[in-house]
Amino acid sequence: MSEPQQKIPNRQSPFSESFKAFIPEAWEPYPTDLPDPLAAAQWAKARREALGELFPAARLVIPAGGLKVRSNDTDYRYRPHSGFAHLTGLGTDREPDAVLVLEPSDAGHEATLFFQPRAPRTDRQFYADARYGEMWVGQRDSLDEMAALTGLHCAPISELTTHLEKNADTTQIRVLREADSQVTAQVDQIRGTVAEATTLDEELSVALSELRLVKDAYEADQMRAACAATAVGFEAVVRDLPEAVRRGRGERWVEGIFGLHARHQGNAVGYDTIAAAGDHANTLHWIGNDGDVADGDLLLLDAGVELDSLYTADITRTLPINGRFSPAQRRVYDAVLEAQEAGIAAAQPGATFGDVHKAAIAVVAKYLEQWGLLPVTAQESLGDEGGHHRRWMVHGTSHHLGIDVHDCAQARTENYREGVLRPGMVITVEPGIYLKATDLLVPEELRGIGVRIEDDILITEDGNENLSGMLPRTADDVEAWMAGLLGRRD
Ligand code: GLY
Ligand code: MN
Ligand code: MN
Repeated sequence: MSEPQQKIPNRQSPFSESFKAFIPEAWEPYPTDLPDPLAAAQWAKARREALGELFPAARLVIPAGGLKVRSNDTDYRYRPHSGFAHLTGLGTDREPDAVLVLEPSDAGHEATLFFQPRAPRTDRQFYADARYGEMWVGQRDSLDEMAALTGLHCAPISELTTHLEKNADTTQIRVLREADSQVTAQVDQIRGTVAEATTLDEELSVALSELRLVKDAYEADQMRAACAATAVGFEAVVRDLPEAVRRGRGERWVEGIFGLHARHQGNAVGYDTIAAAGDHANTLHWIGNDGDVADGDLLLLDAGVELDSLYTADITRTLPINGRFSPAQRRVYDAVLEAQEAGIAAAQPGATFGDVHKAAIAVVAKYLEQWGLLPVTAQESLGDEGGHHRRWMVHGTSHHLGIDVHDCAQARTENYREGVLRPGMVITVEPGIYLKATDLLVPEELRGIGVRIEDDILITEDGNENLSGMLPRTADDVEAWMAGLLGRRD
């Protein structure tokens, strides 16, 4: 369920009775062939079963969420809640207002997907509803089509309330609170014990996040494909760098080129592209992207293609805009690369998530000490009472990656920040050193240089696989790769 339906806008003229009689006539019938199941459908079934085992007696309510107003009568592009996508296999823009309900039974949970199936052409929605009507947003799925796609029993959303109210006094109900405020309010009203219920709901939210910590084989393949698509976008950006320089406001050009490839190959960018040239690289979430891309500067490009399945890559490369690192840029670049390699080497099954950061940050601190930036030794800085090095790398080295760029965010500390790395987990390794142009502690020749290198690492049984390893990382390899793409032979 979404925010209240928009009113029919004043600019829409009333429909005459003769129009209403005429509009349903003479259309091809809807196809009777059913679609093939989604590639993720079988995997999603196993995920639902794993979730059900954690809450054997509970009715679990997992909404997709509704459309959200961007401004006036214009909505944001729709994206379902990641927990819903994971448990149904639905991606792209499916399915506004849908709600997955897992009903406890003696033989495990029975899953039903409640959603708004397409309205018949005799219905006013067909022509008059700009948010859901077929003439406005296209043909929606029927109950049978959705059932064929997902392998789920499907029912119209109009039956949800009756289902939720059934045996409500004897059934524990848990809802994914953050997905849809109207469904949450409805469940709260039916349960009538909100204080205790919130704790039950938090446990569900945590479980949904933790269920995604270890990716299945389908997910690992999607992550590989997302990285491959992202690499294509990076290559396109490099090919167009001279144009970005020539046009001015080149960061926007870079963002646009990457966005073109993200939309073409996938669903969208997995997060707002960071196209940060020169000193802008030192602003961690630089998404304004309104600066020039200038010969002699570095471009930090942090971008990821999100596939139609909603799995996203999250890759950063820091590139010399003219194709050659200056000696000062290379010094910083090589230090970050060494830190990243230490982090990737530490990303092993059985190691902890924290070990990766420890390995990378020790290298960062070593170089900050060598360059005379730290007021204490690297060792003191790395101690509990120190932390001075964080002035130049204030973020962590890693996060889980998957359907969300910062995946599994509700997982408990013991399973995330202090958790053990297991085969199937995908984490980023993304150290950086950020030397702001205004930082008076930094030697002048290094001011304004910001470098991050970020790769997406799948933990395997015997080590790890760099899913984004098709993009070059060493300074020499980056220069050679750029020269090839720019058609230079010097
Ligand atoms: N692009 C966001 C991040 O690297 O975490
Ligand atoms: Mn990241
Ligand atoms: Mn990133």
